[in-house]
Amino acid sequence: MTTAAAESAITFVDGDNGILEYRGYPIEQLTKRSTYLEVAYLLLHGELPTTDQADKWVQEITYHTFIHENMRKRFLEGFHYDAHPMGILVSAIAALSTYYPDAKNIFDPEVRHKQIIRLIAKMPTLAAAAHRYSVGMPFVYPDNSHDFPSNFLSMVLKTPESRFEANPALVRAMDALFILHADHEQNCSTAALRVVASSQVDPYSACAAACAALYGPLHGGANEAVIRMLTEIGTLENVPGFIRSVKEGHGRLQGFGHRVYKNYDPRAKIIRDIAYEVFEVTGKNPLLDIALGLEEVALADEYFVSRKLYPNVDFYSGLIYQAMGFPVEMFPVLFAVPRVAGWVAHWVEMLEHNTKIARPRQLYVGHRRRDYVPMSSR
Ligand code: ACO
Repeated sequence: MTTAAAESAITFVDGDNGILEYRGYPIEQLTKRSTYLEVAYLLLHGELPTTDQADKWVQEITYHTFIHENMRKRFLEGFHYDAHPMGILVSAIAALSTYYPDAKNIFDPEVRHKQIIRLIAKMPTLAAAAHRYSVGMPFVYPDNSHDFPSNFLSMVLKTPESRFEANPALVRAMDALFILHADHEQNCSTAALRVVASSQVDPYSACAAACAALYGPLHGGANEAVIRMLTEIGTLENVPGFIRSVKEGHGRLQGFGHRVYKNYDPRAKIIRDIAYEVFEVTGKNPLLDIALGLEEVALADEYFVSRKLYPNVDFYSGLIYQAMGFPVEMFPVLFAVPRVAGWVAHWVEMLEHNTKIARPRQLYVGHRRRDYVPMSSR
């Protein structure tokens, strides 16, 4: 917290003024006008792609969405029936390294490119497989005639129909959520990736470590906590009482406050608008009114104003995921699918600029030299 851990040209965050930019492009413009795959290209390459570059990029990713059949049959089916999808995803990403041993050649740009394509392309397939397995539904193969977000929704939601067509508003919402979660500079999972990748391990092992960091409730799990909190509050009338109990120190207002943003998290604003578009298709999530009520009361309350506590990215995202039919266990998985673009962008940036192994120093506060005491004399 007292020093910069890295130099980076990927993502700019100004927490006091609520600004988030990828390679200089404001998040508001990217979510309105771009696509997740274009943003992934931007994060990695530093510039938006030309038409030719975009076509090649999308084509490459689209044709790497399949996973090895052995991985589906033997690896994924080996999990216990109630395995958490995030546990499955973390292990599956690590397992990819065993299928692509060439990935160890991390200083060969062509090899590196291939692993990046594979990681971005296979994340939705692995995430959907983890979900289907954990709810006891059969695996759905990628359908490469779909675009990236539609393919993901098809692999998650398809039931008996031969071709699944997701509602275009939901496809657009999914893609915008992917863009919003694609990177957030030196967050916990990206920092984990950098530390692990600095040992020069292959990118699958490093991304598995990053994904493990995202599994933690303080990082990828806050939107689940928001849903539990809103459910517990139950009705609008209970909002003032709940706020009072938070101010008295009985728990926190989940989805409020951020280590960096001391202003409205720009992602929360965008997600609130997306929520309305999604609810037009799915019907309103009944927890929305409680969320809006909480926000209104908190933003007018001295306790929250003086501590600069505003809604963060997680305050509304869980409501959308829930309305789309995802179980809460899938929330961190939905975060991981696009965050892999940020992880690999930071991986490449780090390899190109700094190849020193991560080895933080410590302030030693323990004993100095003393002599061993035999057990009988302790
Ligand atoms: N509800 C009530 N009070 C809060 C909240 C909250 N959500 N967040 C902070 N505060 C209070 C603290 O009690 C503290 O008050 P004090 O000065 O009287 O002791 C003050 O605000 C400062 O809080 P810190 O804990 O020092 O802030 P920090 O930057 O360390 O924490 C964090 C940030 C962890 C996000 C915190 O705001 C929090 O716990 N929020 C709820 C969980 C959450 O939404 N997490 C998602 C973050 S976004 C993401 O990771 C993708």
